Amino acid sequence: MKVLIVLTHHREDSLTYHLKEHFEKGVKELGHQVDTLDLYKIKFDPVFTAQDEPAWLESKQNYPEDMVKEMDRLNSYDALVFVFPMYWWSMPAIMKGYIDRVWNFNFAHGPERTLKLDKILWMPLCGASEKDFEKYKYGEMVDRLYNLSIADYCGIKNSKVKKFYDIVSPTSEEVAQKAQEAYQEGLDFDKW
Ligand SMILES: Cc1cc2nc3c(=O)[nH]c(=O)nc-3n(C[C@H](O)[C@H](O)[C@H](O)COP(=O)(O)O)c2cc1C
Repeated sequence: MKVLIVLTHHREDSLTYHLKEHFEKGVKELGHQVDTLDLYKIKFDPVFTAQDEPAWLESKQNYPEDMVKEMDRLNSYDALVFVFPMYWWSMPAIMKGYIDRVWNFNFAHGPERTLKLDKILWMPLCGASEKDFEKYKYGEMVDRLYNLSIADYCGIKNSKVKKFYDIVSPTSEEVAQKAQEAYQEGLDFDKW
């Protein structure tokens, strides 16, 4: 299987990067090919402009080159994994802009969509605790956003969320424990 990790973080020494590396190690042990698309490193432009707007009544679209490049890239993979810090119970602006622009009409959704991913895994790092996620039902809310409003809307039925909680200023023991969780998630990638 070919797996694309879409990584979002502005710092290479972040825990987000660190957990991505451990997850990747696990998936590679299953024998999959894994590549990373780092949205900050490629300086992805997340701002939706008039040129990005679809022609809703037409089947053929004329999207800008940078969007077509990312659409073609996505269609050369079987599975997708987003690794990102959770911002405002959703995602960072650059990742939202990537979805706004690349996951466009008649590519990711629409009657003539061509996106064909078998599965998608969302791995947000969250500052809040698991207890708060339960108390305020944030978990249900974000799971619905990722699995239903985005993945299912684009026809991807096999969508899963793995949250990492309590990421504020973790101790070295906590970092090691989260890294082990990420590695295990990679090892379990074929189980769902
Ligand atoms: C702008 C912003 C918004 C945030 N929103 C949330 C949030 O909605 N829920 C949450 O649990 N944590 C939130 N956080 C905390 C981040 O998720 C946390 O700092 C991040 O996962 C830490 O990972 P890092 O060390 O790799 O940056 C937010 C942080 C920032 C900077």
